[in-house]
Amino acid sequence: MPLFYQQNINESTRLAIWEIEEDESFFNLSIPMHKQITHPLKKLQHLAGRYLLPFLFQDFPNDEIKIADTRKPFLPNEQYHFSISHCNKFAAAIVSSTARVGIDVELITPRLHKIKAKFLHGDELRFVNSQLESRQLTLLSILWSAKEAMYKWYGAGEVDFSEMMRTFPFEVNAEGTINAAFVKFDFQHKLLLHYKLVNDLTMVWVVSDN
Ligand SMILES: CC(C)(COP(=O)(O)OP(=O)(O)OC[C@H]1O[C@@H](n2cnc3c(N)ncnc32)[C@H](O)[C@@H]1OP(=O)(O)O)[C@@H](O)C(=O)NCCC(=O)NCCS
Repeated sequence: MPLFYQQNINESTRLAIWEIEEDESFFNLSIPMHKQITHPLKKLQHLAGRYLLPFLFQDFPNDEIKIADTRKPFLPNEQYHFSISHCNKFAAAIVSSTARVGIDVELITPRLHKIKAKFLHGDELRFVNSQLESRQLTLLSILWSAKEAMYKWYGAGEVDFSEMMRTFPFEVNAEGTINAAFVKFDFQHKLLLHYKLVNDLTMVWVVSDN
């Protein structure tokens, strides 16, 4: 039972991270597989993500999940809103019976230095550069996770990461919150993101009805 982390955010919203140590047969027992995935790790990640949904809320109807054109998985009757992320041997999920949600987990990687100008706004780059060099990679990982979580919360695809999703400066600790804004034409929302660092893993989640 390698439950890596669990947080009950409130009565209607819960999240968890699973560290995958099982093989496929463990998940296959309870999880319907509706798509063809040949890569063994990707298949395990997909199964573990789906496994977490009824793990968090027992009556979560995995059988009823549909996939939108944007590839966002959803429940047509919106009994629950949910979001899934995986990275390496970790799978994370957040489920809410009341609010739209987004989650992302990432392992901190130097690759982010190469792509930072693509996903960060100039103001965000300046914030990163204002930090001690030893902290910049961790901050980049949090900001990348933040934007992926916002992208999933939004769910409708076609988002310019540097312009339409903006984060504002915050103090970088082991966990905390980030004020953010999602602006896509007339869809404009302020969001409060939550982040947490566990060893080399960055997690960001967002819950918002707005
Ligand atoms: C969809 C996306 C966010 C997934 O991120 P990833 O790092 O590849 O993978 P993660 O493990 O974090 O997330 C995968 C899960 O996201 C979910 N997902 C996929 N598309 C989604 C969407 N449009 N909205 C919400 N959730 C989505 C799925 O649950 C998927 O897991 P599953 O197929 O096993 O159910 C990412 O691939 C993507 O398309 N990003 C936007 C592309 C882009 O514009 N990039 C520009 C950066 S500068």
